Amino acid sequence: MLFIIIFLFSIPSLVFSQPFSNFQRYDLPSTAVGPFSLAFDASGRGPFTGISDGRILRYDPVQNSFFDFAFTSPTGSKAVCDGTDNNDNPDRGAICGRPLGISFYFRTNQLYVTDAYKGLVVVPPNGRLAENVATSAEGVPFKFPFHLDVDQVTGDVYFTDFSSQFQLSQLLQAIDARDATGRLLKYNPNTRETTVLLRGLTGAAGVALSYDRTYLLVAEMNANRVKKLWLSGPNAFTTVDLITFQGRPNNIEKNSLTDFWVVVNTRIPGTTAGSFIRIPSAVRISGIGGGILQTVDLSRYFPNMTISEFQPYGLGGYIGSLRTDYLGRGNY
Ligand SMILES: *[C@@H]1O[C@H](CO)[C@@H](O)[C@H](O)[C@H]1NC(C)=O
Repeated sequence: MLFIIIFLFSIPSLVFSQPFSNFQRYDLPSTAVGPFSLAFDASGRGPFTGISDGRILRYDPVQNSFFDFAFTSPTGSKAVCDGTDNNDNPDRGAICGRPLGISFYFRTNQLYVTDAYKGLVVVPPNGRLAENVATSAEGVPFKFPFHLDVDQVTGDVYFTDFSSQFQLSQLLQAIDARDATGRLLKYNPNTRETTVLLRGLTGAAGVALSYDRTYLLVAEMNANRVKKLWLSGPNAFTTVDLITFQGRPNNIEKNSLTDFWVVVNTRIPGTTAGSFIRIPSAVRISGIGGGILQTVDLSRYFPNMTISEFQPYGLGGYIGSLRTDYLGRGNY
């Protein structure tokens, strides 16, 4: 009996691995790429997503199409920016912006955005131009704002700066160098101050606040692990390494009271020497002990691609990526 229990707990990713029963692909408007992060507003409209030319789009299921909702840079205009790819071009990114993480504060229906080139910005409820709220903390400018989560009670915004040395256009260099200058930050909208919660993170990627608001999970992409930071209780402001993956964790989204979806991109050797294949997956983990509860292999729908986010929705979730010209939705 004991052996069976140990066996089950030692390979949970195999035991609970399951494909989707259906998958739907939502093509972005022509020229648009990179729906990195997904969010729904206070009345359930969406998904909203930020793309590589600096726009934030809203999907309307009734009309089955995407509409312009907002943009993150005051110097961005349709004529200059639409259809550009600011993932790899920092000069263009500085002009047009590149929204990465997006998350609503439901009480006000403001949309907070980590823009890779502009900092932390906030979009007013009716959309259009975002307002910049933070560009540095403790005198150190943000280099690569990545992902965020909003405390729905206080309005505090928890967000990551992937690196203090490398920007979005240098993501692969940052990974190769195992850069460990990332930070976990907190923006307080009442004082308008940004404080540093953790520094020296090895590629600070996804962040999620637990439903009970007692702890945060933060992904360290360059170290293949997820850390847990307690915010209250006897362990407040201490961390533990919650789980280490074979692949690289990206964004994290809360799922229920105690579990979270982490996107993990793994590389396996290809058929010829030196080649590789990317295996994107969504992994549901326990925020309590870090155990793997479920693994969804998404390589059928995103072949040899990396994905960035799994946003749980209904009996499945929406899937975003930094590079694709579509987002996906799957149900179990
Ligand atoms: C996967 O993508 C990488 C990078 O684009 C490429 O080098 C590799 O050959 C691809 N693998 C397969 C099996 O297509």
